Amino acid sequence: MTRQPKPHTQSPGMVCYDFKELSPRERYKLLIGAVVPRPIALVTTIDREGRINAAPFSFFNCLSADPAILAIGVEYRPSGPQKDTGRNVRETQAFTINIVSDHILEAMNVCAVPFEPGIDELQKAGLTASNGIKVPSPFILEAPAAFECRHHTTLSIGNSREIILGEVVYAHMRADTIDTTNLHIDPFALDAVGRMGGQGYVSTRDYFDLPTMSVDQWNKGELAQRTPRRQDQSE
Ligand SMILES: Cc1cc2nc3c(=O)[nH]c(=O)nc-3n(C[C@H](O)[C@H](O)[C@H](O)COP(=O)(O)O)c2cc1C
Repeated sequence: MTRQPKPHTQSPGMVCYDFKELSPRERYKLLIGAVVPRPIALVTTIDREGRINAAPFSFFNCLSADPAILAIGVEYRPSGPQKDTGRNVRETQAFTINIVSDHILEAMNVCAVPFEPGIDELQKAGLTASNGIKVPSPFILEAPAAFECRHHTTLSIGNSREIILGEVVYAHMRADTIDTTNLHIDPFALDAVGRMGGQGYVSTRDYFDLPTMSVDQWNKGELAQRTPRRQDQSE
């Protein structure tokens, strides 16, 4: 029988867990099930011989705009060897983050197959590699947006994973995703997909605005309202 972690009962209607009492797998389940949706980075790198690698990461986010820092969390494989992405970043000091749209979701899933080192997942997935401008890693032509990153810092946070920070040095945006007069990104053209717990995904098509309120508005009782954004509405 599988072990069932014993919840604490702190307050009615809540089920609470002390992370000290949970196994790594149990912590993982709580975190990836509740911290959702997570954006997905399809990370392209090259190895020492210049061979292309691609893999998706949903321990991924934008942590800062100045400097422009994107972060990915790369686990070590249970069997020991490092994932190709982590090794390639260490060796080349660069990587490219490709945003995953609905259109390339299945191709992204092919890139998650644990192929041997040296296998070009982009080729397997039918995606097109295009030369990076400022970094040696390629970007994916079919991705709606791609950010070329130079390795900034690797945080060694334990013996099972590392957090890699990259500083964005160049951006490729598909022309229909951006209004170049004000740099607004059209969420419907981007059509990004997010990761849920387990094998789940969500689209970003159910989109609405909810403006942040000023203290003045709050004091006057003017609660901001949700307004659905239609596909043909500009910002
Ligand atoms: C949507 C999705 C998100 C993933 N997120 C992560 C992640 O955040 N960290 C990680 O180590 N592996 C993650 N994986 C698994 C890796 O993509 C997988 O282990 C891949 O084979 C690693 O490839 P590499 O050895 O070429 O780097 C994810 C897989 C999928 C399908």
